Amino acid sequence: MANDIVLEVKNLEAGYDDVQVLWGVNLKVRRHSLTTIIGANGAGKTTTLKSICGLLKNVRGTVILNGEDISALPTHKRVDRGLVMVPEGRWLFPEMTVLENLRMGAFTKRARAKRDETLEWVYTLFPRLKERANQKAGTLSGGEQQMVAIGRGLMALPEVLILDEPSLGLAPNLVLDIFKIIQELKNEGLTVLLVEQNVHLGLAISDYAYVMENGKIIMEGTGSELENDPKVKEAYLGL
Ligand SMILES: Nc1ncnc2c1ncn2[C@@H]1O[C@H](COP(=O)(O)OP(=O)(O)OP(=O)(O)O)[C@@H](O)[C@H]1O
Ligand SMILES: [Mg+2]
Repeated sequence: MANDIVLEVKNLEAGYDDVQVLWGVNLKVRRHSLTTIIGANGAGKTTTLKSICGLLKNVRGTVILNGEDISALPTHKRVDRGLVMVPEGRWLFPEMTVLENLRMGAFTKRARAKRDETLEWVYTLFPRLKERANQKAGTLSGGEQQMVAIGRGLMALPEVLILDEPSLGLAPNLVLDIFKIIQELKNEGLTVLLVEQNVHLGLAISDYAYVMENGKIIMEGTGSELENDPKVKEAYLGL
């Protein structure tokens, strides 16, 4: 069913200055699904996400959100339509409180109108953030900072929540917490597009996944199909 697809990316080509990084990336994200892109360092995963969100210049190809071609829209208009990315490295305002950081997420008119309501929802998902609402974000643990980053993304009322390596730099037990949170978001009905270095956990929670190599999608399938694929096992799971 066509309207089952909330986000579709066709023939994406992008790069930096004279260096082309993406060579015709195609992918689809089903509504209410958790879709993951895996791939080695430098494969082009972050470049793909940035291109989808309109953060790079001279991107070629098509990005369709809810049937609308948004390829020519600036980032803030994509956010307004529900395409929200939580970037790699979190990018919080360390001197601002948790609450202030969260509120920053509701910057579009659509999100601002529902800000208090959404904040309550975020606090229900992350009770820890409610406890620490007035603490400076820079003094939180890595896992808590990642919760703020995700919470801030949720404050923008995403139709598709895009997460770039949310587990990066976290201790193993916190990695598990973040993965549980991502699953919970999906259970809440959100659509999630995830980039993950932790291939094993990433595939385990994915409905569908894409493998990226050298700026191209080289393989795709359900999480379990890819987890059991001999090539994926050898190249990404160290089995
Ligand atoms: N701002 C930039 N300027 C120039 N080259 C860049 C820039 N950002 C990324 N690149 C290059 O583009 C290629 C793809 O990078 P990208 O960040 O998309 O990879 P990635 O798959 O997200 O890797 P990682 O898993 O390490 O995050 C790399 O060769 C990288 O060096
Ligand atoms: Mg990256």
